[in-house]
Amino acid sequence: MADPIRVLLACPQEAASLDLAAHRRNGEQLQVVGSLKRGEDTFEQCGRFSPDVLLLDVDTLEGNAFQLTKRLVLEHRETAVIFMSSSKEPEDLRRAMLAGAAEYLIKPTEAESVAAAIYDVIEVRAERAGSDPSPRLPVATPAQCKVVAVASGKGGLGKTTIAVNLAACLCTGTESTVTLLGLESGDCGVLLNLAPKHSIAELSAALDEVDLELLEGYATKHESGLTLFTASRGSLGGEASVVTVDCALHVIRLLRESRDYVVVDTPLFQTKQEMVVLEAADEIICVTSSWDLLAVRNTKLFLCMMPEGCQEKTKIVINRADRTDMIRDTHIQKTLGMDISAVIRNDAKVVPKSINVGTPFVVGEEGTSVAQDMVQLTRLVTGSVVAAETHKRRAFKLFG
Ligand SMILES: Nc1ncnc2c1ncn2[C@@H]1O[C@H](COP(=O)(O)OP(=O)(O)O)[C@@H](O)[C@H]1O
Ligand SMILES: [Mg+2]
Repeated sequence: MADPIRVLLACPQEAASLDLAAHRRNGEQLQVVGSLKRGEDTFEQCGRFSPDVLLLDVDTLEGNAFQLTKRLVLEHRETAVIFMSSSKEPEDLRRAMLAGAAEYLIKPTEAESVAAAIYDVIEVRAERAGSDPSPRLPVATPAQCKVVAVASGKGGLGKTTIAVNLAACLCTGTESTVTLLGLESGDCGVLLNLAPKHSIAELSAALDEVDLELLEGYATKHESGLTLFTASRGSLGGEASVVTVDCALHVIRLLRESRDYVVVDTPLFQTKQEMVVLEAADEIICVTSSWDLLAVRNTKLFLCMMPEGCQEKTKIVINRADRTDMIRDTHIQKTLGMDISAVIRNDAKVVPKSINVGTPFVVGEEGTSVAQDMVQLTRLVTGSVVAAETHKRRAFKLFG
């Protein structure tokens, strides 16, 4: 007989009535390996028991079930998480699925239906096991923190869109700790459907006293595990406060101590002095466009104004690429004197929709071509592909 399916119960109210061992299917059997009490550390206990299935009552859980599930999916891949909830809200179901839950059961539940759900989940896992292409990005976690600044020489080219999706892709596709630092406005919050309560601009007055612990109080957590620090409070109408260069540099210095990746959505620089922030980055993604000469011209001016040493760590990324674009890659490369490292296509449906629902498209629409372009850019950032491989795709994927 096959080994029993190991089930860990994190549902104190239902545990007594769930006689799962009595329900068999096709010679398979369920074994309850443990039953957690209210308040017990579910993540830690999963490490201890390594169950095949965690039955999680989200109503009694002390903590955020979505974040817990996300962590489990990343760090205990062997465990499938089944949600038990009294909520019928489609939004809760959506968030559970996004976090990586394998099944969502609405309470009250009976032992028979719970057992059936467990067998179904295990069956699907077994089917996938042979052909599961890992969604994770290889060579993901850098030995030291990597700070990536997303910048451009002109507004509206997609700097924030790329910064948010890059951060989300790093966070969901790797086991890394990722922070997004929105220096310009509240736009990062909008794209993540978050309304930060604090602006890091508030720290400027007494920077000497700001340590990592104090800074963490200014973080807004996203369900993906990503943390956001922003110049602006509130998602709508939140005034964007100006973050001084010193404040930005101090925050980046502190984040370096505790994160694997820091993605900075930089402001549109007005002066050379503001550009000092770029010196703090390990890599700069310079977003441009092949739409018209203004984008190319302003990108050139931006590259020329950069502090010394910054151009060497800059990668040129064309965003919103479309078959109707008039400026050729060769022209852009010649004008900028740099190669194009990656291309993100224009998708007038997926991108605005993802902004409007507040879910990065690399998470909500990961199967789409524009999301795959972002995955390629993310691979470039993690170092798992080289620029030439990323850019080569344009010829046959965009215009093929
Ligand atoms: N790849 C893309 N395809 C389609 N629309 C895009 C794409 N990237 C960005 N956009 C759109 O361009 C607009 C400007 O993007 P945004 O990220 O705010 O630019 P920036 O931060 O550079 O000002 C947004 O309305 C967004 O929907
Ligand atoms: Mg922006």
